[in-house]
Amino acid sequence: MMNLFDVYPINDITIVKAKGSYVWDDKGEQYLDLYGGHAVISIGHTHAHWVKRIEEQLEKIAFYSNSIKIPLQQELSAKLGKISGKEDYQLFLCNSGAEANENALKLASFHNGRKKIVAFSKSFHGRTSLAVAATDNKNYVAPVNETDNVIFLPLNDEDALQECFDERGKEISGVIIEGIQGVGGINVADDSFLRKIRTLCTEYGAVYIADSVQCGYGRSGKFFSHDFAGVNADIYSMAKGMGNGFPVAGIIIAPHIKPRHFMLGTTFGGNHLACAAALAVLEVIEEEKLMGNAVMVGKYLRDQLEEIPELKNVRGRGLMIGFDVPEELKNLKKNLLWNQKIFTGEAKPSVIRLLPSLALKKRDAEQFIDSIKEEIGAIVEKV
Ligand SMILES: Cc1ncc(COP(=O)(O)O)c(C=O)c1O
Repeated sequence: MMNLFDVYPINDITIVKAKGSYVWDDKGEQYLDLYGGHAVISIGHTHAHWVKRIEEQLEKIAFYSNSIKIPLQQELSAKLGKISGKEDYQLFLCNSGAEANENALKLASFHNGRKKIVAFSKSFHGRTSLAVAATDNKNYVAPVNETDNVIFLPLNDEDALQECFDERGKEISGVIIEGIQGVGGINVADDSFLRKIRTLCTEYGAVYIADSVQCGYGRSGKFFSHDFAGVNADIYSMAKGMGNGFPVAGIIIAPHIKPRHFMLGTTFGGNHLACAAALAVLEVIEEEKLMGNAVMVGKYLRDQLEEIPELKNVRGRGLMIGFDVPEELKNLKKNLLWNQKIFTGEAKPSVIRLLPSLALKKRDAEQFIDSIKEEIGAIVEKV
């Protein structure tokens, strides 16, 4: 029998059904999903409108290559422009977050003919060659991906950034930054830091790339979390929440960056089914006012978590929340899963990450708060 290539530590759970913020295993056990399959479930599992849109499209045509007109792509870019407020940007569609960042970094280099990329400590941009080279984790970087072209700087250190540009600003092709680091442990990029990046990129002709793969698509309460800084990036990369589980990704590109035939390309990117799924997501975000919900339920969660003395440094924006778990509570995430049937995310070594659907209901958030208090109480009692 052929076996799976064992690259993931997995929980011994088989999920067979999902709806909204809930999933069920093969034994009929119900779980509250505050992990969203790693920030992917934006509008809720198996949302009826999303299912219908995909089903209807499947009956018509699922795929044809980018050699013909696909009006759904235009429909998607118009809708994305409207909801994100970046109506004069241009959309390029692809399939995953890594691919989106790979294309963003490549495009920046095509645009200004330069090679150096500035990235930040604890960043995660994906597993493909340039994306992983700009990722601050040696474990993911194969020898073939190692390059002198990426300069790592400390996050939110304006002086270090200024110094870097003073020294080699004319060599820098792009600066890539997550608005809120996900894998790195929910670290928010300061608004003033993003403004500094904008200013220096403009001054030196470098491209400001906003990795919005995890923190984008409304999760922070704004469409792009980078928007809190009040300045525009030149390229935004998107994936995860864009398809609510259907693999679709993209970059949007500021108007001064001009396309040339064949400079970017993809077989699957922008296929009919992916566009239908992505359109359904935007329609639901708008119709159900999910960004407002992310603000409201996110604030409730943060306020409540801050009241729990054992949890430290509660942080994040909207429904992208992290907090530090002290050593004595190191089983908290596991206990939430096995005792309370609640999925949460983590960031090594000791951060719990909440990345639920943007449609998370207040009563589900309340249930989580009750459950986490109960589990903390149980652990503390034992010690
Ligand atoms: C900020 C960020 N960028 C890029 C990626 C890579 O996305 P994908 O796994 O779809 O390639 C991730 C995935 O976790 C991410 O969090």
